[in-house]
Amino acid sequence: MEQYVIYGGKSLAGEVTISGAKNAALGILAGAIMCDETVTIENLPDVSDINVLLEAISAIGAVVERVDRHTVRINGSTIHSELVDYDYIQKIRASYYLLGALLGKRGNATVALPGGCDIGARPIDQHLKGFRALGATVTTENGFVHAKANHLKGSHIFLDIVSVGATINIMMAAAMAEGQTIIENVAKEPHIVDVANFLNSLGANIKGAGTDVIRIRGVQKLHGNTYSIIPDQIEAGTFMCLAAATRGDILLKNVIPKHLEAISAKLVEVGAEVNEYDDSVRVCCSHRLTGSTVKTRVYPGFPTDMQPQMAAILMLAEGTSYIHETIFESRFKYVGELRKMGAVIKVESSVAMIEGIEKSSPAILKTPDLRAGAALTIAALATEGKSTVTDIEYIERGYENFDEKLRALGATIERQTVTPGRRKNKFA
Ligand code: EPZ
Repeated sequence: MEQYVIYGGKSLAGEVTISGAKNAALGILAGAIMCDETVTIENLPDVSDINVLLEAISAIGAVVERVDRHTVRINGSTIHSELVDYDYIQKIRASYYLLGALLGKRGNATVALPGGCDIGARPIDQHLKGFRALGATVTTENGFVHAKANHLKGSHIFLDIVSVGATINIMMAAAMAEGQTIIENVAKEPHIVDVANFLNSLGANIKGAGTDVIRIRGVQKLHGNTYSIIPDQIEAGTFMCLAAATRGDILLKNVIPKHLEAISAKLVEVGAEVNEYDDSVRVCCSHRLTGSTVKTRVYPGFPTDMQPQMAAILMLAEGTSYIHETIFESRFKYVGELRKMGAVIKVESSVAMIEGIEKSSPAILKTPDLRAGAALTIAALATEGKSTVTDIEYIERGYENFDEKLRALGATIERQTVTPGRRKNKFA
């Protein structure tokens, strides 16, 4: 088991370069297998979720060549299986993007059903609704989803709920279907647009990504190309919160400021200073923040993936704050950990009420999920004294070189491997 040991209370300052977007890369890597030529993908984040998906892609027979930590070449012409096993899905849900990619390419896919996660039930009914609308027969049995279609035909699909995963999965399945597909009530996140731009760079015909309606004209074949992933909106937002929480001054390089607007606006509202440049953003703060209300929304609203990080800064802000989580049904697992530091937070159904405290105390904090782990790390860095953040494997699923980037900003943080020994029963 890995953990961070952090001596917090310092203002962090300096420059950090943001890595490629994990949630764009996962869809793009899956889409890359749809063509039978070599696709080169650059600016990949070197995080465990990406590495697991590459293993899954290799396991079904595609050629996967790691050029360097951030570049991979994929060729889908040698795929010999349409079965994606449970062990990959168990490690990362996004392996289910191979459903849409394999269905779109070969008319056949069997992928283990992704379980719910620590942030909610996370069903995939909308994904399956889209596949069926395109003419696939979809069955679920023995924990697997099986989608089969002799011939995929374009359709008019209205999503019942705005879903990032369903939008990407259906877009891929429709990319080579006959005729036109219209998908309404789609997600508009930057990573949706990146996946659509990527597929279009392979010869797909996808219009409207980033709006409420995506129109796709199926093509016979996709061709190889080279594509670079956009910067990670959520990694950037995490470092922006870190600057505000530690009363620091951080310049984030390799970002798209437009993607960060909701985060920047909220940080300015609570009292931080945010300056935007062409491909960088600078966040600084020299005083205590003031409380505010945060409501998570689909893009361009405030991202749910930034909700825990906001709690980490609002717990020290002046006054009362409210966080209303509207996307997932249980994304407050980190609250118990912040309470160990003295945070005064009350959660009632989907709303957390936070009474700001002047000073937090260091503690041993257990990471429950990816973004909560980032939030606990922010809280520890903003708290004087020695804190430990355990189970950091969650964090390293989505943040590349997190501790190294933090050290470069002046953080005293050490990554430790702990062999889970038997607890001594001190009362024996
Ligand atoms: C993606 O998850 C992201 N993951 C999540 O980021 C992110 O929190 C989420 O989008 C929302 O932005 C990846 O891109 C790999 P959804 P996804 O489908 O696609 C419900 C991170 O930290 N829903 O947009 O699973 C669902 O239960 C991760 O990087 C259905 O009911 O999210 C949820 O309440 C965490 N039926 C809501 O929609 C469906 O068929 C939004 O889910 C699909 C979703």
